[in-house]
Order: sequence, then C-alpha cells, then structure tokens
Amino acid sequence: MKIKTKSSKIKESDYSDKLNKISKNIRKRRSVYADEFIKKEIPQKLLEEILINATWAPNHKMTEPWRFIVFKGKYLKEYGDYMAHYYKDFYNELSYEAQNEKLKYLRNYPLNAACLIGVIMVRNAKINLPEWEEIAAVSSAVQNIALTCTAHKIGSYWSTKPVAIDYVAQFGLAENEKSLGLLYLGYYPEDLKSSTKKRTPLSKKVLYLE
Ligand SMILES: Cc1cc2nc3c(=O)[nH]c(=O)nc-3n(C[C@H](O)[C@H](O)[C@H](O)COP(=O)(O)O)c2cc1C
Repeated sequence: MKIKTKSSKIKESDYSDKLNKISKNIRKRRSVYADEFIKKEIPQKLLEEILINATWAPNHKMTEPWRFIVFKGKYLKEYGDYMAHYYKDFYNELSYEAQNEKLKYLRNYPLNAACLIGVIMVRNAKINLPEWEEIAAVSSAVQNIALTCTAHKIGSYWSTKPVAIDYVAQFGLAENEKSLGLLYLGYYPEDLKSSTKKRTPLSKKVLYLE
C-alpha cells in the first residue's frame, strides 16, 4: 500500500485570481461577530434567497430536518434583555459598575444585527435516521446560509451557547425538534479588519491512499 501526502500547488490561504469564484467565497467566509455589525436591513428577497439556499443542503433520505425562525425588530432587543437576564448572576464577583457594564454589553449586543435565525433540527417520526446525520444535514444548511451571506457581503456566525439554544427553544418546539442555537446575520463596515484565523496545512489533514 502506497501512502502519500500531496501538497496543493495553490497556497491554501491564497485569495488570488487563480481561485475560482466558489473557492474564493468559501475562503473569504469568516465568522463576523455582532459587535462588528452596522445597522442595515437585509432586503426580504435576499433573506429569502439565503433561506432557500439553506434548504438546498444535502440530507439523507430527504428528511429535510430543519426549520428556521427569523428574529427581527423588537426580538433583537428582547434577545439582548434575555441574555442580560440569563447571565445576571454570572458576574456576581465583579463590582456593581463592572457588572452593569457587562450586562449592558449583552443587552446591546444583538441590536445591530439585521436578524437572528433560530436553527431547529426536526427529527422525522417515520424515518429514524441517526441524530448525527440530521445534525450534519442542518449544519450543511447553516453553511449554505453563511456562504450566501459571504457572497452578499453580509457577516454571519453561529452561536450555540446555552443562552442561544434556550432562547430558541422557547418558541414552541415540538417533541421531535431540538434547538441548535442562533445565527447572527448583519452588515459590516467595508474596512473591517479581516480575521487572522488560519487553517492547518492540508498535509496534516489529508491522507491519500492510491
Ligand atoms: C457548530 C458551531 C458552533 C459554534 N458556536 C459558536 C459560539 O457559540 N460562539 C462563537 O463565538 N462562535 C461559535 N462558532 C464559530 C466558530 O468559533 C468559528 O467558526 C471558528 O472560530 C472559525 O472561525 P471562522 O468561522 O471565522 O472561520 C461556532 C461554529 C460552529 C461550526
């Protein structure tokens, strides 16, 4: 058996013209956090495009194991208040002022998002696939959302903290449904500093067997 590792001819972090559109878009995608967002609405047609692309994710046996809740407007404030309430005892050891600062930060954190998207996994009652397959399908849907956002210069990231999971879970989930947290979507300034996060070289991640 021959075991080889191959190195790509194109530098892995390269955004040069050598890369085609899809590769550029994939490598340009970065989690953009809500404190970077600038207040701007996503036009409804574009939001629908983003959500339709989510539903084109691959899924085993066509279970389409997802459902989304779009939170906009007053729900951004409601979620900020929910976070502040959720974490109210978390900062007990801080001074009163420092504690208030932290809670104020949480209250304001979602306000510049264009929307939050609650991600819900829906298990199929008749087709009992392993849960991991359904999570994998929903994650592919989430990636489709993120990549569509990148292509439209919209920032996004997936928040899976207990506070995000619990917030979504309050909105009438059935027994076969599970909250997988919230996606933040929002516009960002043109001069936003790009993320310095790197990826491990392919040679450490891929084994070729030929
Ligand atoms: C399943 C999943 C859950 C995540 N949960 C969180 C989270 O709760 N909070 C957060 O700040 N980022 C979260 N992220 C974003 C990751 O931190 C981010 O993708 C990672 O640092 C790589 O950075 P990049 O997305 O900019 O490439 C999550 C990402 C994934 C795929």
